[in-house]
Amino acid sequence: MQHRPNDCNQNSGQNRKRVINYLRVSVTDLCDYRCTYCMPPEGVERLPHSEILTFEEIRTVVGAGIPLGINRVRLTGGEPLVRRDVPQLVRMLSSLPGIEEVYMTTNGSLLGEFAHALRQNGLKRVNVSLDSLKAERYREITRGGRLEKVWRGIEIARKAGFEPIKLNVVVIKGVNDDEIVDFAKLTLENSYEVRFIEYMPFGPPAVSGKFEYIPADEMKRHIGVLGPLEKLPGVSLSGPAERYKLAGARGVIGFIPAMSHSFCPTCNRIRLTADGRLLSCLFSGRAVEVKSLLRTGAPAERISDAIRLAIDSKPSGREARCESFMSSIGG
Ligand code: 5AD
Ligand code: SF4
Repeated sequence: MQHRPNDCNQNSGQNRKRVINYLRVSVTDLCDYRCTYCMPPEGVERLPHSEILTFEEIRTVVGAGIPLGINRVRLTGGEPLVRRDVPQLVRMLSSLPGIEEVYMTTNGSLLGEFAHALRQNGLKRVNVSLDSLKAERYREITRGGRLEKVWRGIEIARKAGFEPIKLNVVVIKGVNDDEIVDFAKLTLENSYEVRFIEYMPFGPPAVSGKFEYIPADEMKRHIGVLGPLEKLPGVSLSGPAERYKLAGARGVIGFIPAMSHSFCPTCNRIRLTADGRLLSCLFSGRAVEVKSLLRTGAPAERISDAIRLAIDSKPSGREARCESFMSSIGG
């Protein structure tokens, strides 16, 4: 099936030509960090244990997505590695016939402990969220995170075979925008893919109202002091990043212009929340509940129908602002 760029302009229910091959799975709403832009200091109310999908239920949903074209899965949270035995889930999903790659986005705090087990269980790549290169600032942004532990985790992950590692930097005006050039410099000597993400105003206004994004074009201008950015051909398979390289650099610089450019037309992802809802769009309130289907023994075709419904209800463009916390959606 050929992807048509203008599919997004069709009304919901008519997205049958859109190829959705990528499912993001939030395995827990919990996180060991309390990033200032993501959560209030006290954290978010945790879901009762019984509301969280079991690994078997997650596998059932992923399996039901395969006939519809889902072949890649990203595990997210909260922080996925705070859920016990997540490497086992990686194995369960990566061994499903039809699933080609399983990835993970992590804050890196527990990466050192789990990198080898994740690799052995079939995880293909890790993205590490890293919003500052300064230990003190990192601690402030994450409300307690230890930067040197994350770097150790990244090093262990590289040795375990995860290369290149993507570093996700959420750029926020007045918070870490003075580090854009330093982050870009990391790619000169290292094979990292540093991905600058425009901050998106999630959560209630008391959190989201405090922060402002920097447009990707402005970030590129800052990086200009290091030389011209050469655009890499093609679209990243796993998302909406525009990718560039500095001359002679080992690594790649990506931009995710989540605010300044709509990438809705090429968006190829749906999300499964930890409590068993399918979301077709980060910015959409629409959800398709699958947990009740799973728990009443519905046949696989019914689960596939629910995924199809979520795909078909992908909105045509950016919808109303999302008031959920990012940690409950999985980024
Ligand atoms: N805007 C942009 N990115 C965000 N993330 C979390 N909250 C936001 C936000 N409000 C990022 C995380 C992680 C990814 C899953 O989403 O830092 O890299
Ligand atoms: Fe946790 Fe990621 Fe939210 Fe930070 S941004 S609190 S690491 S879920």
